[in-house]
Amino acid sequence: MNSWVQKRDLFVIVGVSGDLANRKLLPALYRLSHDVPSESRFRILGVSTDPACSDNTFREKSQKSVKELAGVDLDSAWLDETLFFQSIGQGGPEDYRALVQRVESLEKSESLTGNRVFYLALPPPVFPVAITRLGEAELNEGPGWTRLVIEKPFGRDAASAESLNKLVHQYFDEKQVFRIDHYLGKETVANLLVFRFANSLFEPLWNRDRVDSVEILVAESLGVEHRGRYYDRAGALRDMIQNHLTQLLTLTAMEPPSSFDADAIQHEKVKVLHSISPIGPGDVVFGQYARGEVDGKPVTGYRQEPDVAPDSRTETFVAMRLRINNWRWQGVPFYLRTGKRLADRVSRIVVNFRCPPVSLFQPFVFSALRPNTLEITIQPDEGFDLRFEVKSPGVPFRLVTQNLHFRYSEAFQKSPEAYETLLLDVLLGDTTQFVRDDWVEASWRLYTPILEVPPQVAPYPAGSWGPKEADRLTSLPELDSATAATP
Ligand code: BG6
Repeated sequence: MNSWVQKRDLFVIVGVSGDLANRKLLPALYRLSHDVPSESRFRILGVSTDPACSDNTFREKSQKSVKELAGVDLDSAWLDETLFFQSIGQGGPEDYRALVQRVESLEKSESLTGNRVFYLALPPPVFPVAITRLGEAELNEGPGWTRLVIEKPFGRDAASAESLNKLVHQYFDEKQVFRIDHYLGKETVANLLVFRFANSLFEPLWNRDRVDSVEILVAESLGVEHRGRYYDRAGALRDMIQNHLTQLLTLTAMEPPSSFDADAIQHEKVKVLHSISPIGPGDVVFGQYARGEVDGKPVTGYRQEPDVAPDSRTETFVAMRLRINNWRWQGVPFYLRTGKRLADRVSRIVVNFRCPPVSLFQPFVFSALRPNTLEITIQPDEGFDLRFEVKSPGVPFRLVTQNLHFRYSEAFQKSPEAYETLLLDVLLGDTTQFVRDDWVEASWRLYTPILEVPPQVAPYPAGSWGPKEADRLTSLPELDSATAATP
């Protein structure tokens, strides 16, 4: 039984009829609480604009959709005891006043703690109005603590992220705000801090003296699926780079925090963003998938996907080179690469160490000496591989690459899903694995100039590793400290 959730708090999901709630949130809340006795379990109030929904029809609908979308069977007793519904009609002030009444009456009838989570599982254009209505209805504070959870994307560029933060802070203190990036809920991502700072082995090597380059790859073999309407306005830079890949980057590059406290960690992550040099047009390649083959099956090009403009110039692939202009990383390129409809699904951080200074074995090595590498695989097949050279037995004298490897699946049982971890953290009030206001703004500031003047979009066949133009990034000469400017 999960003892952490044995409190009768209230979890309000605004936008409960959407994909996210049914695919991720309800299954995660179910997993967290189904073996907790009803008398010590939280309650969930689903909120949507559907006027014709009662508690019972909502339970039936949720049971069906969660089964369909997530393959999870919600137990009927759990549903009856845990799940309630409130319509907010057109989302006007009077609808939110009715929501206040429902929250208060549930807290009374169900003997709840008065602690409240408001989870905005809404399309981003609706965030401002929902935040304003919650604030105006004074749902920003209650008898216990109140927390606000906001899904990504948080803003579309620097200006919109700043104005959304301003609005949030009009009603909520930053300590109440939990901005979601589901990558931070993945066990392998959370483990980056432990790997770096609970071991003394790697930290002395983790710098410009020993590291040649760092690659961060998040490749997907899926296309945009049914999300063309959203994706065609977003693109890979907004959808993946600004949030998920940049989170991986800041966790990989940050300095040791002064403690394992959320603010101390966030502080070091933000410092990395402030040290990144402005990204020039020559540092970025955009691509868009054309027709091709994935897993041996023909697939359509991006422009033929539903709800995508036939002449769309939205990027489905981004490769870029970043420079972190600080004492640890100056001169070490960080390569970020992500795309849809690539050859495989894999998320990985690769640290390429420098080659030995003298090539003692040159006569016996027929190709270039391979550097040591550390591969941290985020998904699938989560784990680490440390590659090094050994002499193969006998003659002729030969070097071969071998690796030390660790796999989560061999060492542990199944890890919890990212949303389970994150929702539990919200209930516990731990903001370590969420996105702080200054991080989100600094990240958008870094990428906004590229969004304003985007590079040409190069086509690539679905099922490949992206446009070949991306390969030129790795062969660019490095800038020295005198020419690498800070923003
Ligand atoms: C989401 C993006 O945030 O992350 C999607 O909007 C993307 O486009 C997804 O497919 C990838 O997440 P994961 O966990 O499958 O790597």
